[in-house]
Amino acid sequence: MRVIVVGFGVVGQSFAKLLLSRSADLYSKYGIKPRIVACVDNDGSAVAPAGLDLQRLLDAKKTKGTVGAYERGGKFSPLQVIESVEAEVVLECTPTNLNDGEPGTSHIITAMRTGKHVISVNKGPLALAFPSLIELANYNGVMLRFSGTVGGGTPILEFAKRCLKGDRITSFKGILNGTTNYILSKMEEGLTYESALQDASKKGYAEANPSLDVDGFDAAAKLVIMANWVMGMKVTMKDVKRTGITKVTVTDVKKAAQRGNAIKLIAACDSRQLDVTPSEVAKTDPICVNGTLNAVTFSSEHSGQQTIIGRGAGGMETASAVLRDLIEIRDTTFS
Ligand code: HSE
Repeated sequence: MRVIVVGFGVVGQSFAKLLLSRSADLYSKYGIKPRIVACVDNDGSAVAPAGLDLQRLLDAKKTKGTVGAYERGGKFSPLQVIESVEAEVVLECTPTNLNDGEPGTSHIITAMRTGKHVISVNKGPLALAFPSLIELANYNGVMLRFSGTVGGGTPILEFAKRCLKGDRITSFKGILNGTTNYILSKMEEGLTYESALQDASKKGYAEANPSLDVDGFDAAAKLVIMANWVMGMKVTMKDVKRTGITKVTVTDVKKAAQRGNAIKLIAACDSRQLDVTPSEVAKTDPICVNGTLNAVTFSSEHSGQQTIIGRGAGGMETASAVLRDLIEIRDTTFS
């Protein structure tokens, strides 16, 4: 499988590292040999039809700041690369932009129009234009997958869509943003909001623009993606009632703890509303998890409540979701 990687930040680089470390077992377990045939960032591109040398690509990015420094690098733009390089899959991992979804939306549309399957870890295009992107994928006979947009490496979307498919999910609620969960957990341990946020950025959990995390946009985007994909709703960002965590104080967190509760940024969806807001949750509730963990409880008609918990942020975690999508595309299209 030939893959074009668009955007080479934390997730793109982690995906390259994952391929480097797992090439043998990917072939023996799943029969796939993914090759990155092009990679493009803001400042340049690297193209090699036989597959890029991933270590050299990572070194070019680390030492020179751009994949354009790769030996056979060039000055092609993302759209030129997506249009002209032959590949089966485009991996879109440019930073999330929730104003107009660009440049990710144009990358995805161009990839699908040129007959390429798409894996997006970028939430912007999906949160803003989910129904039309799915329609465009169907029209072009390609797959659009986006496991890494929700839950980092935790298969929240697959759990709901596949494992619970015999039942009817009536509502769900949980923690969908690792950065704010990390900050709130650290505040309970006594750290200030500012230093916890700095820490989350340094560790690569926070978005390039951390306002997306702390103001609740990221959780709202994930809620929208889940509502569309899991509940079959046709909603976008404007349908979410959203409050972030910037007004939560250490005193609020400590007082909640004295009551046996924790303050969490809870995203909730039922047939009437979509809501992201800091809420007090009992420490005994299964969604009351700490650090960068995400947790979602689905309520369904016959099987009651079921909770999935796992790491919700991080480069390698999200890269594992990308690999999952890649294996699914391969299994669906080559079988
Ligand atoms: N900034 C996001 C988070 C990354 O903290 O959850 C994973 O989507």
